[in-house]
Amino acid sequence: MRIWLIRALIAAGVVAGLALAAWVGKAWWDSRLPSTYSAMEFGSMDYGGGPAHDHAGHGAISVDQFRGPRAGKPDYRMTLVAQKAEVDLGHGWTTEAWTFNGRVPGPEIRVRQGDLVEATLVNKDIDDGVTIHWHGVDVPNAEDGVAGVTQDAVMPGERYVYRFRANQLGTFWYHSHQISSQQVRRGLYGAFVIEPRQQPRRRTLDLTVIAHDFSGATVLGSQAGRQRRPVPPGTPVRLRLVNSNSFPERFHFAGTAFRVDAIDGTELNGPTPIEYRPLLLGAGARYDITFVMPQYSVGLGLDATTTSLVFVSDPDDPQFHVEDSEGDDFDPATYGRPKLTLLGSTTHFDRSFVLKISKRVGFMNGRPGYHWAINGKLFPETPMYMVSRGDLVKFKIVNDTGSVHPMHLHGHHVLVLSRDGKPTTGSPWWVDTLNVEAHDEYEVAFRADNPGIWMDHCHNLPHARDGLTMHVAYEGVTTPFRLGDGPDNHPE
Ligand code: C2O
Ligand code: CU
Repeated sequence: MRIWLIRALIAAGVVAGLALAAWVGKAWWDSRLPSTYSAMEFGSMDYGGGPAHDHAGHGAISVDQFRGPRAGKPDYRMTLVAQKAEVDLGHGWTTEAWTFNGRVPGPEIRVRQGDLVEATLVNKDIDDGVTIHWHGVDVPNAEDGVAGVTQDAVMPGERYVYRFRANQLGTFWYHSHQISSQQVRRGLYGAFVIEPRQQPRRRTLDLTVIAHDFSGATVLGSQAGRQRRPVPPGTPVRLRLVNSNSFPERFHFAGTAFRVDAIDGTELNGPTPIEYRPLLLGAGARYDITFVMPQYSVGLGLDATTTSLVFVSDPDDPQFHVEDSEGDDFDPATYGRPKLTLLGSTTHFDRSFVLKISKRVGFMNGRPGYHWAINGKLFPETPMYMVSRGDLVKFKIVNDTGSVHPMHLHGHHVLVLSRDGKPTTGSPWWVDTLNVEAHDEYEVAFRADNPGIWMDHCHNLPHARDGLTMHVAYEGVTTPFRLGDGPDNHPE
């Protein structure tokens, strides 16, 4: 080959290499997060086919204007102290936990529908700061407990007062929303139950059972391993199952027929008795199941663990073992009877969004890798879904990955319309956390009736930390709070 041709090829190669290096360098540089930033400055605005107004211009309302009632005597008042504690999980297990009030789960909060709740969070010694998010409770935005979006993290020695009215009914939970991928796992969570104002006449056993994994020790409630509890035959029982882990938990209830009465704090319509159906609860989800205690023992277990809770009809009954049930997972899409919902039978939506989860090569905060992407964009360029108050909103959630993503929208419950193109046929199925399995596709809808800036993220909290985080924002709402190292606000 001619010498000039070889030289030309080398020169071209060098130029291409330099260009590539410059391009990669810029991508790396651009991906780095500043030390402080606003949830409003980032993200790709997506108006879902609705009007695009300037959302944070003149006359914008700050999230901290959306508060619960500031005045009035609370019906229920409690203090939650975030503190480190060594916790006994039974059967020889102990753990260095981060707790509310020295125990895991934190104290169960039980209020009645309509109660004004006042919770004072005190941080004793959690160095990174804490907050409390009331998962599934559709509180006013300023009470939502997201560090850097609705408040600043509460640092050691500080306190913060949450006040809101418990308007819903059912099973919820609370957890820290500062560095939540670490803080929830270590124990900063508890149950939040809203009971009807009228108590049932019959004495029922109403028990919350949170499944949580403490690095290998799986607890139901506060104990690992086998637990027993005597229950007189004939007693109506309600078990409020909660999965506070970042992965799905399969619960097995064995021994008698039961019904699934509620999902994510919403009663199902016309639930029928079922038997031997494993209940797959995605991260953050809740199922309420009910049954009548029979003459013999029944039990609740967790898939592939020895952790179980056995209800014995007779205290002298020998130990009962909970077998993993073999049937297909319970399917909420076909369970119960249909009923017209608040959304009616409309097919018109004011905004329709797509939320497509995939993986992509790129830089996230300066880290090269194969990262989670939403609609092809990496955090913090993930979408900002813009809505207006009163809108009827549709979301199509597409999981284009091989992992399960429990998608959680704050401040709202969404109605599941279809899965993989098949319309749901059972009871209206409202969720705040939807377990979107690998390659699944869902359509959900909700009414935009709770103004604010709301996180919408994967409740596999390490996924959220690694970029599966976005927001739904109401136009005309802005936040004075900032994310990043400067203010020390890191919600995920
Ligand atoms: Cu249960 Cu954004 O959280
Ligand atoms: Cu995920």
